[in-house]
Amino acid sequence: MKRIGIATTGGDAPGMNTAIRALTRLAQDNGIEVYGFEKGWEGMLHDQYQILTTRSVGGIIHQGGTILQTSRSDALRHEDSKAKIVEILQSHNIEGLIVLGGNGSFRASYVLSQEIDIPIIGIPATIDNDVYGSDETIGFDTAVNSAIEQIDKIRDTATSNDRLFITEVMGRDHGYIALHVGVSVGAEVILVPEIEVDVSEIIETIKANIEKGKKSGIIVMAEGVGDCRELADQIAEKTPVTVRINVLGYTQRGGSPTARSRVLATVFAREAIDLMLSGIGNRIVVHKDGDVSSIPLDQAGLKSKTMDSEFIELYKVLAS
Ligand code: F6P
Repeated sequence: MKRIGIATTGGDAPGMNTAIRALTRLAQDNGIEVYGFEKGWEGMLHDQYQILTTRSVGGIIHQGGTILQTSRSDALRHEDSKAKIVEILQSHNIEGLIVLGGNGSFRASYVLSQEIDIPIIGIPATIDNDVYGSDETIGFDTAVNSAIEQIDKIRDTATSNDRLFITEVMGRDHGYIALHVGVSVGAEVILVPEIEVDVSEIIETIKANIEKGKKSGIIVMAEGVGDCRELADQIAEKTPVTVRINVLGYTQRGGSPTARSRVLATVFAREAIDLMLSGIGNRIVVHKDGDVSSIPLDQAGLKSKTMDSEFIELYKVLAS
């Protein structure tokens, strides 16, 4: 193998740069040239790339975002752009492709794998942690820690003013960030898209807390659950508490990756290059029960990860 391509796709995640560095250096160590396509699939479509070298990826291990940039592209959903991507990859003699991203990226990678006969390896990199088959994704730990830092501060002001804060965290389809953040900050209520909770149940919990002498509180809500302003109005109407909202938003996507995100990025990169060198393709690397391994690409993009509901029960006991 003489040349591979790499690309970061979908939402950026802290640790993508760490992975780009490790992939480039491991590939170069094996005599493989690395084309870094810019803005994900868009770079492949418009022939925009940079040749990455051991030196050019220096000094990025700690940087959030991605030096290759990214985009949400539907290029592989259209026949003409799909054919163009294949043509560009072939014109550069790209012999293998490594795609960092989430579920959408792996579905697109699978589509591409049906059109071109080169190994494609996916690396789970999304703050949402919602990739089937992997206990963790690159960037998740960083996003959780960023949110915790913010909510710990909110707890101070909530307690000082006897207020209830609804803190909205990222997670359009899945609530892994909300669940882990909620458990870590001792949230009184955690709301995730996977588990439907009636507003009356939330109001009962708040009233019970008031009875117990708890005058302030934190609700951690994933963005995919709904409108936090509406929930705030309903709570304010039915309870005596003062409710405030804090939407953490895109701060969770940026920032320097934690040690855990950096280590995961590095071991994922090693596994991806090892697979490439063995000529094994069309898989995504995963972290399962403490080990790094891989699963078929089609499973990753098409199956949905299920949430550990025992964790939800645990936080409820601890929040009492
Ligand atoms: O990166 C994942 C994610 O942060 C989701 O939690 C969120 O809903 C989405 O990206 C929003 O990102 P964008 O505005 O880039 O589509």
